[in-house]
Parts: sequence; C-alpha cells; structure tokens
Amino acid sequence: MTGTLAVKAEVCFSSLRLEELQLKDKNIVVLDVLRAGTSVAVALSNGAREIIPVNNIESAVRIAAGMSGEVTLKAGERNAKMIEGFHLGNSPLEFTPEAVRGKTIVFLTTNGTAAVVKGRHARNLVVGGFVNLSRIVDFLARLREDFIVICAGKEHAFSMEDAVCAGRVLNTLDAATDIDFAWNDSAVAAMSLDRIHGRAVLKMLKNSDHGRYLASIGHGADLKVCAATDSVPVLPKLAGTVLKITAGSALSLPGTGARERPVPKKRGS
Ligand code: MLT
Repeated sequence: MTGTLAVKAEVCFSSLRLEELQLKDKNIVVLDVLRAGTSVAVALSNGAREIIPVNNIESAVRIAAGMSGEVTLKAGERNAKMIEGFHLGNSPLEFTPEAVRGKTIVFLTTNGTAAVVKGRHARNLVVGGFVNLSRIVDFLARLREDFIVICAGKEHAFSMEDAVCAGRVLNTLDAATDIDFAWNDSAVAAMSLDRIHGRAVLKMLKNSDHGRYLASIGHGADLKVCAATDSVPVLPKLAGTVLKITAGSALSLPGTGARERPVPKKRGS
C-alpha cells in the first residue's frame, strides 16, 4: 500500500435486493451478457440515437406514445421472446443498422433494463458484456473510484455468464492498473469463476442455463455474437434517462463536472 485508500470493487450477482437509494451517486457497471447488455452495445454501435431503458410494459407504451412514431421503436422481451406489439425483440442480430439508425429505442427486458432503471440515480452507469469488455475496463481504470458491478442475472438470480464476465472485467482491470482494490466476496468469487470458465466463453454460454434456453427457442445464433469479446467497442452510458455512446470515457467526477483522469500505469512499467 502507498498510503492511499484502496478502491472498493463490489459485485452483486443480481439486482433483486438492490434498492434505488443504495445506488444513488455510485459508480455502476450493469452486465447482461445474454442478452440486453450486448444488444444495447450493438444497437448504439449500429447508429441508434439513444436507448430509453424501462422496467415495465406500461412505461414502454406510455413513453413511446409520447414520441414521434417515425423515429421511435419499442424493443424487448418477456421470457426472451419479442413482446406483442413491439417492433423488435432482444436479439442483438435484430439491431441492424437498417433497423436502428437514427432511432430512439424504448427498451424493456426482464433483468437487464430492470437493473439499469434501479441505477438511474447513479453518478456513472455504464452497460455491456463481453462485446465491450475493454471499454468497461478502461472506464474503471480511469475512474479510480469505488464501483459496483451489477450482474443482471437470470430471473433476478445468479447467472454464470454475467458472473464470469464480471470476473473477467475485474481480473483484466487488476492486471492492467496499479490500483489497490478491496474486493467483496462476490468479486473474489467472480474472479475465480473467470479463471475456471472464462477461457472458452462461447462454450460457457452454450452450457449456461440461459444459453441453453435461448438455443431451445431458436436464438442459438445469438450466443456467438454475445461471446465475441471486444467486437463492439463502445461504452453505453446513462445520461439522464437515456443510454448513449460516450466520447472517451466521459467520467462524471464529484463536484467537478465531467473530466478525465489519466490512465493508471501498468504494473512493472
Ligand atoms: C434480460 O434482460 O433478462 C435478458 O436480456 C433476457 C434475454 O432476452 O435473453
């Protein structure tokens, strides 16, 4: 230790027990590998203007009704299937440039957008999965502040894919920076899971509960997209009520407005 305080790095394996108030002014990463975190990154990377995360159908319908129908899409799932009357489901393969360019997407998913909505009063909230892993690590490396990784999970409970992804984020961050971290138990567990199951991400997704379910309902092709580490190098960040791509890592730091911190040096360099 150099006399500076360790950065607290926490993982939550589900957002179920988290309250909005607990998350106020915190730095939050929401991971939903299968599939909302991946789909958000893909949609924004393919030119969607913004994504409005919501946590129930009524909100999705009400918000979309108040916007121009020409530039607004309702997307999302229940039981991983497209919701009746919506334009798109939650497959990253649906968020093509042709479908989403210039569009505002009102987005409802069972676990992913529910976790984002819970964190809406965070100081910084970013979203993703394996597809934008390095952007998330870079964001945390520059931040150098306490943070919480929320795994969206499955049916508001543990999911292997989000836990392994959380572990990969933390292992990569730890190896790349000089920061002293204070991990909570879930963080230590996630890092161990990454060491055991993170070497073959696609295989891990195929063996996971939700991966097997998605394959059984005809969405097996999504797994390959969700497993492709750093294939969609964007950082979706919550700005007010919408998720947008940020320029740089666009940190909000206390009391100073948005500004950047230098990237910490790699150990031994
Ligand atoms: C969720 O938020 O629960 C999901 O992303 C589920 C899915 O559509 O695969």
